[in-house]
Order: sequence, then structure tokens, then C-alpha cells
Amino acid sequence: MPLKVVILAAGKGTRMKSAMPKVLHPIADKPMVEHVVDAASSLGAEKTVLVIGHGADQVRSTVTREVEYVEQTEQLGTGHAVQQALPLLNPDDTVLIGYGDVPLTKPDTFKQLIDDVTDSNIALLTVIMEDPTGYGRILRDASGNVTGIVEQKDATPEQLLVNEGNTGILAAKASALNELLGRIDNNNAQQEYYLTDIFALAVKQGMSITTHQPDHEWETAGVNSRLQLAELERIHQLNQADALMTAGVTLRDPARIDVRGNLTVGQDSDIDINCIFEGNVEIGEGVSIGPNCLISNSTIAAGVVIKANTVIEDSIVGENCTLGPFARLRPGAELEAQAHIGNFVEIKKSKISKGSKVNHLSYVGDSIVGEGVNIGAGTITCNYDGANKHQTIIEDGVFIGSCTQLVAPVKVGKNAVIGAGSTITKEVAADQLAFTRAPLKTIENWQKPTKKASG
Ligand code: UD1
Ligand code: CA
Repeated sequence: MPLKVVILAAGKGTRMKSAMPKVLHPIADKPMVEHVVDAASSLGAEKTVLVIGHGADQVRSTVTREVEYVEQTEQLGTGHAVQQALPLLNPDDTVLIGYGDVPLTKPDTFKQLIDDVTDSNIALLTVIMEDPTGYGRILRDASGNVTGIVEQKDATPEQLLVNEGNTGILAAKASALNELLGRIDNNNAQQEYYLTDIFALAVKQGMSITTHQPDHEWETAGVNSRLQLAELERIHQLNQADALMTAGVTLRDPARIDVRGNLTVGQDSDIDINCIFEGNVEIGEGVSIGPNCLISNSTIAAGVVIKANTVIEDSIVGENCTLGPFARLRPGAELEAQAHIGNFVEIKKSKISKGSKVNHLSYVGDSIVGEGVNIGAGTITCNYDGANKHQTIIEDGVFIGSCTQLVAPVKVGKNAVIGAGSTITKEVAADQLAFTRAPLKTIENWQKPTKKASG
């Protein structure tokens, strides 16, 4: 029974008030619809079909997952939408139906439905709600068997009292869907072809319906507005925080961390409040991250200490390095073990080797810095001549005095010392002391200006 997934994503999402189709609005930086695709593919779905309509071109060009598309040019109802996907499926397929605007269903919940599908059984996810307003209501007979679903707009006052709502998420054989959807009509309050009508038809022809409830109500919550999007974002973030703590990570406040991508963190690492992790981030054991840090697409080895307000992008940080507060690693920064990058220091596309220190107010770009180097406060690599970038090489054991400008391309040889305030434009050989410095002038009997008395 090959598993195929059909995701309805044709809706406009009027209440989002957006030029972007609703299903592309992100949760944790990933379009909602991709959350559904990923959950389905984790269950081994062989094919995922997105039914698109509003903003079809934008959906096609934005979704990065391998999916197939069918266009529903006119939105004639959920039943009609599923029907559009059927030509891409085989009769023997088990079909899971999901929604591009219901992003947080857990794979396990989908799996329960899939496992229940037979030629004569359809599985449906329902949810017991305090207030089921707007939802289709599940109708059951005296022995509790599902007999059908009635939409809010078509329900009798008595049916409206039912508090078991239809999530719309279901699994069935493609052959059954094909047969049943061929028989639905649009004689209802909304003049739509309702997917929900297949249940009464199925029961009439002797099929059975099994139902499951999700562990959490948010698994079936849909997004119609930016407020609902924000609410699901928070739930998703808390779930990720929970997973990190379960894996042995200390979070000073699980409500104040944002993970927008894939984050792995080693045991006994400690993350203070308001940190954001983007893309693929790997953090080793025993790492300490202070408040307000932003780390994206980077690898941080064990024992690193990152102090408050540090920003790290596309970089590699070796074991036991110290960074910040207010340090910035731009793309291509590579720190070997025990390097120190202090406050207001920017490193770009540079290697800082073992144990080297750049502790205060410096810019190091396009550079190779050897081991045990000390770069004094306010040092700048002048890597850009207005047209091209050039490299600076600083060999092992070099000491660069404060406020030095290294005008690239330039090299400072092993163990050389550069005097403070120098502008280095030529290669400095190993073991030399080099400096450029205007001579000190003092003016005797100089009179300090005094303030004129105001008339
Ligand atoms: C639907 C269900 C209802 C359920 C509710 C849960 C039907 C008839 N009703 O109602 O029982 O309680 O979802 O949220 O199925 N869509 C298309 N093409 C269409 C119509 C809809 O792709 O022609 C998509 C929409 O973009 C949306 C989803 O299907 O993502 C649900 O459609 P919507 O019109 O919002 O259905 P509801 O009235 O909410
Ligand atoms: Ca809806």
C-alpha cells in the first residue's frame, strides 16, 4: 500500500491581508505548507501532491521540496480539490489528506490514520472542542459509529450542539476516494463540493469510519489570520524548546528562544534568554550562550563561551573559544580552539588559529592569522581598495600594537611586533619590530583659548 499525500493549498487566505499566498507564510522561517510536506515525507510518502490555486506560481517557485502540483483554477470545494489530485494517484494507494494551512500535525498522528486504512475503512481525525463554531460536526449513531459530517452552515440547531469537530484530515484508499467523490454534489448552503460528504456515502455503501483524536488541539489548528500564525509559531517554538531540554540542554527560559531551522545542541549546554538560531546550527557539549545572541548556519564546538549580544553567521568556532560580548562573526570566519574574540570585534572570511586573541574594537577581514597572535585594540585590516579585496597574513606569535592599520595585501612574519598606531603597507619580516609613527611634538608656552565674556 504505497503512501501518497494530497495537500490542499488553493485557498486565498483573505484574512492574512497579504500579497503572498497563505500557505507560504512561515512558521519558524519555513512555509507552513512545507511543514506538512516534511511531516508526510518522514512517514515515507512516495509522492506528495499540492493542490494549488491562488498564487499558484508563487507557491511553485517558493516550495523547495520535491512535490507534484495540480491546479484547481476555480475553488469549488474541498471535495472538488481532492478530485483534481486523483489522476496522479493509483487505485491501490493509501492517500493522506492534509491542509497547507494546518502546519503542526505530528507525524505520529498522521500515522495512526494511515495504519487504519483498508479497502472498506476510512480513517478520520476529529477533535473535541469547547467551541466548535465553524467546524463541520461529526454525526454518530446510537452505537457511536460515524454516520456522516454536517457543515456548520448546513447543520440543524441540534447538530450544532455536537462538540466533536471535523479536522478535515483523513486517510483513505485512492480507489474509495475516486468512487465516492464521483458521487457528491453541491446542493448545500455554500454550493460547494464538500469532501465531508463522502462519509455518509461511504457508510451507506457499507464502509466503516474509524476516528482518532490528536494528542494536542494545536495539531489540527489552522491559520486564517496573522494572529493565529503567531500563536502557532509560539506553540512550535515551545515544542522545540521542550525537545532541547529533553536532550539535556538548559534553557534559562523556554519561552524566550527561537529556533528557525535545524538546531542540535550537546548536553549541559546553557542558553540564556532571547537567543535566535537560524538555518543549520550545530552546538557541542557544555557551550554557554549569553542573552540576545543570533547564530545562523554555524558550527560551535564543545566548551565555547559566547557572551551577550554576539552575532555569528556561516562560521566555524573551535573548542573552548570565547566570544563577545558584542562580537560579530561574518560568513567565512573560522576560529581554532581557544581563540578569543572580544567586544566590538568583526571577523569576516578569516581564519584565527589556536589561542589567538582579538579582544577589542577590531576588524579582521580576508585574513589568515596564525597561532598565539595578539591583535591589539582598534586594529583594522584594510582589505578593500575600493575595487578589490586583498589578503592579510599574520604568522604565529605576532603581536600587533593597538590601532594598527594593515593595508592588504600584506604579511607580518612570525613573532614580529608592530608598534601601536602603525600603518603597515609592506611586508614585515619575522622577528622584527616595525612601526610607523609621527614624531611627538610639544609646544611650549601654548595658551589655551578662554571663553569670551558675553556682552
Ligand atoms: C473544512 C471542512 C470542515 C472542517 C474544517 C476544518 C469541508 C466541506 N469542510 O471547512 O468540516 O471542520 O475544514 O478547518 O471540507 N480548499 C481548496 N480548494 C477548495 C476549497 C478549499 O484547496 O475548493 C482548501 C482551502 O484552501 C483550505 C482547506 O481546503 O486550506 C479548507 O477549506 P475551507 O473552505 O476553509 O473549509 P472550511 O469551510 O473551513
Ligand atoms: Ca477553514
